[in-house]
Amino acid sequence: MAEDSHAQTPPEALDEAAASAEHARLAAALARHDRLYYQNEAPEVSDAEYDRMRRRLEAIEALFPDLAGAASPSRTVGAPPQTGFAKVTHAVPMLSLRNAFSAGEVGEFLASLRNFLGLDEDQPVPVTAEPKVDGVSVSLRYEDGAFALGATRGDGREGEDISANLRCIAEIPQRLPQGTCPSLLEVRGEVYMNRQDFLAFNRRQEEQGEKIFANPRNAASGSLRQLDAAITAKRPLCFFAYGWGEISSLPWSGQMQALQALQAWGFPVPDLCTMCHGIDDMLAAWQSMQAARAAIAYEIDGVVYKVDRLDWRQRLGSLSRAPRWAIAHKFPAEEAETIVEDIAIQVGRTGVLTPVARLRPVSVSGVMVSHASLHNEDEIARKDIRIGDAVVVRRAGEVIPQIVAALPEKRPPDAKPFAFPRTCPQCGAPAARESNAGSGAESAARRCIAGLTCPAQALERLAHFVSRDAFDIEGLGHKHLKLFFNDGLIRHPDDIFTLQKRDDGALAERDGWGEKSAENLFAAIEARRQISLERFLFALGIRHIGSATARLLALHYGSLESLRQSLQSIAIEDGKPAGDEWESLVAIDGLSVTVAAPLVLFFSQVHNRAVVDGLLAAGVRVQPAERPAAASPLSGKSVVFTGKLSGLSRAEAKARAQQLGMRVVGAVSKSVDFVVAGEDSGSQRKRAQELGVEVIDEEEWLERCREAP
Ligand code: IVH
Repeated sequence: MAEDSHAQTPPEALDEAAASAEHARLAAALARHDRLYYQNEAPEVSDAEYDRMRRRLEAIEALFPDLAGAASPSRTVGAPPQTGFAKVTHAVPMLSLRNAFSAGEVGEFLASLRNFLGLDEDQPVPVTAEPKVDGVSVSLRYEDGAFALGATRGDGREGEDISANLRCIAEIPQRLPQGTCPSLLEVRGEVYMNRQDFLAFNRRQEEQGEKIFANPRNAASGSLRQLDAAITAKRPLCFFAYGWGEISSLPWSGQMQALQALQAWGFPVPDLCTMCHGIDDMLAAWQSMQAARAAIAYEIDGVVYKVDRLDWRQRLGSLSRAPRWAIAHKFPAEEAETIVEDIAIQVGRTGVLTPVARLRPVSVSGVMVSHASLHNEDEIARKDIRIGDAVVVRRAGEVIPQIVAALPEKRPPDAKPFAFPRTCPQCGAPAARESNAGSGAESAARRCIAGLTCPAQALERLAHFVSRDAFDIEGLGHKHLKLFFNDGLIRHPDDIFTLQKRDDGALAERDGWGEKSAENLFAAIEARRQISLERFLFALGIRHIGSATARLLALHYGSLESLRQSLQSIAIEDGKPAGDEWESLVAIDGLSVTVAAPLVLFFSQVHNRAVVDGLLAAGVRVQPAERPAAASPLSGKSVVFTGKLSGLSRAEAKARAQQLGMRVVGAVSKSVDFVVAGEDSGSQRKRAQELGVEVIDEEEWLERCREAP
């Protein structure tokens, strides 16, 4: 390999200066390969090559012991664990936050709280306002006051054990004061890097020829993901606590009290936290934090409002990924001006042709932006964006940068309008615009009609299949997948699970691979042979089925068999699903016809069923969904709420039912177990009586809830 090509002199023949230079070169090269291997999942040298470099470094150190300093890779890099960090299941999920971008949305949030809790308009809802620090969320577990485990958020349910790295952060207490804290306490908070520290750190990285990070958040995240904690220890990381997860007893009754207690136990908590008693207070807190933003030592991208009272939070509960009781009010996105250098077309997993602008790189909120999505051909026409145009780009949080507008006054005379292709640039098949079955309106998206025979679509489907919220196969990034796809090793999802059986050692021989990387990949695949129903459904890449819908379906049907049986029994008339089973599918609360129709069509198509069968035949085991309260007698039952309830809001009643593992459906059908009828429940009550479905009143419903654990 290039780095080793001039290293032919035997170590014994090196003088001290040559040995020192050679040692530095090897140390830097090994550090780089470690990074490529562990972090980027993209090794550039074979394992054998790597071992040879490492042995040479060790031989030089044996002859010149002074070179073997603490930073030598011979000391700092240990044997890598098989697949990175160990997985940790969060007993209390680590949720995310919904976003509000305007005062109006903050008002809606407050109104939704009142509506759910059944509060009058003039009843105050105390809410805390905290800065939303742009870092990485972690969970710290203390057992009998001693730090026992630290984990990343991961997908919210399962994270990674990064205890060793978190122990290196000085601001994280190792022990809590005795006697005052609960025996089991999980502290949730954010690891971040101060702006000044980040700049200095990046300068050091640059001087040492190491990776430069785009922003403090990436730097914090990269630092926490080091397999060698000694590297994390050198990074300037900070922490603040903003909440808790599992806890043996609750020593507080509100958020503000909790922050005070956490602070007293030695955790830094965010400055600038205030208690708000209405929308005016909340907006004032937001204004003042925005004004202070530039002067604050760390990056904040908004304000988090949280209902202070824990009894209310308990009642409010959570949506699939975020609590109902909190929201992040984001600061406005930053904008910058740049030039569109070209427009390229990407083909996604469903065949949609997406135009992407290649931009002259420009910094927006501290991040270099060089691409922006243009969505579709109508959008390009509507904004009249031409190649060569000056444009305004905007970045809002994680969202892909957007082009806000072209600046026609700055348009150069040779700016070229973009001719949107009528054929797929990847496979040459026609790319057509579909019309909506219901309205007949033409869809904005142009789609390659070749389906899975288009290599771009097939590859993107596979990439989705192994992605984080789906099968989450470590080490099978886009780059490797593409190579495997092109070589015919992995063409269909089930090929992933037969890879090891088909391999005769050839994988380890591939360029950039070796025994160890092959073993690691096989282990990562093996670890995912068992999969939850919701991940499995999401992985199939069915149109409109995101993680939340997949979860809803998993809870509703319980098992893959029952889901398939039910969906495959739905009749399809004139290309549209119909009949009783269809009616009960769309009666699932939260499932619209737009989402349900592609789902039914997916399972009606032979080639899709073959994908599912292929996976099962390759040994994939889909675990039945765990209903949250399986022990409850109400678990698995389906209920319809109709009419006006008096003691609790409709939203709270539904949420309570879901907590008990029930399915809340929107309309009465034969498969509904019972109907809770409030005042004025006319037609639904009548229909239930006609179908012989049990109808109960609100009091009886509350009684049944009390009886259910
Ligand atoms: S509370 C269940 N408070 O923002 C509520 N999150 O976009 C969980 N964050 O994952 C979050 N500052 O990493 C909360 N004061 C704050 C925060 C905060 C930053 C992060 C956190 C979370 C993300 C959600």
